[in-house]
Amino acid sequence: MAKNTDSVDFKDISIITKGGSEDNNSLVVCFGEMLIDFVPTVSGVSLAEAPAFKKAPGGAPANVAVGISRLGGSSAFIGKVGHDEFGYMLADILKKNNVNVSGMRFDINARTALAFVTLRSDGEREFLFFRNPSADMLLHESELDKELVKQAKIFHYGSISLIQDPCKSTHLAAMSIAKNSGSILSYDPNLRLALWPSAEAARKGILSVWDQADIIKISEDEITFLTGGDDPNDDNVVLQKLFHPNLKLLIVTEGSEGCRYYTKEFKGRVGGVKVKPVDTTGAGDAFVSGILYSIASDLSLFQDEMRLREALLFANVCGAITVTERGAIPSLPTKEAVLQFLEKVAA
Ligand SMILES: *[C@@H]1O[C@H](CO)[C@@H](O)[C@H](O)[C@H]1NC(C)=O
Ligand SMILES: *[C@@H]1O[C@H](CO)[C@@H](O)[C@H](O)[C@H]1NC(C)=O
Repeated sequence: MAKNTDSVDFKDISIITKGGSEDNNSLVVCFGEMLIDFVPTVSGVSLAEAPAFKKAPGGAPANVAVGISRLGGSSAFIGKVGHDEFGYMLADILKKNNVNVSGMRFDINARTALAFVTLRSDGEREFLFFRNPSADMLLHESELDKELVKQAKIFHYGSISLIQDPCKSTHLAAMSIAKNSGSILSYDPNLRLALWPSAEAARKGILSVWDQADIIKISEDEITFLTGGDDPNDDNVVLQKLFHPNLKLLIVTEGSEGCRYYTKEFKGRVGGVKVKPVDTTGAGDAFVSGILYSIASDLSLFQDEMRLREALLFANVCGAITVTERGAIPSLPTKEAVLQFLEKVAA
């Protein structure tokens, strides 16, 4: 058995041929924001220089819900959008992708959130958010579909919904309902510094729910931020500062290089797969979809290092395929696409 190396036998991916879940006893409920991203029609310009913008559905938790459904899993999205054209357009996109939207709410007074996003020629990302406040921030606890949360095998969330009330309290209530119903809690902080009042507030806010998660996925940049500048490649930093006793799985993503995994029993690394990058938007969400899809169909993955490595390779491929096309939701892969990719690599 391969231990602490990059290699996984491409020909022996049992987890992904096992079939997904037409029924919903492996339901993943994703909680948080869904919004419209406005992306410049030409690449490599600043927001001020952009001649025009194209709209695209966005919001990490919603992307993950679609990603799981596209792989053949069962998913639901809980969040609030505006009672406006954009809000109903977003709900329609989820419905068309077989994501259960019975937990979605539509705010009469606030608009669907907008984000103008660009990748400048110097590689820096620029964001401009319209959330003053937007509907996603206003999901109230009384509007929470508690029955849907209780059905979750995995309850997945980010940190944007933790920034401000009333959404923050609703988020915490949902986590507690999920935990009490025996759901696995999955956390991808997805740091968006510009949305927090300060860096310190972001660090405190993100870490405030750290101990409750069963699964956490973070990037190397997020490790540096959360630890106040420590080396993200140092296993001791990860194990001493970020691992906690309740955690079943901590994953550190390294972009196209692959990912590292840490459990109580073992740790290691699964290398990435090479593709020609076109647009990295949604790659992290595709990765999360891939791993949660596998875990939802088999919780014993946490105990079996070899099969966990297969599932992480599967997730790496989900991320890689997403990078080869523009946009997040349009480029999330089906299970067939992932299997075909793996066959080509193995050949
Ligand atoms: C899950 O299945 C049950 C029983 O078939 C059904 O009543 C419920 O609506 C389903 N939930 C979702 C989220 O699809
Ligand atoms: C979505 O889930 C809810 C709650 O389980 C259920 O009542 C509803 O029928 C589901 N909708 C669809 C389209 O499956």
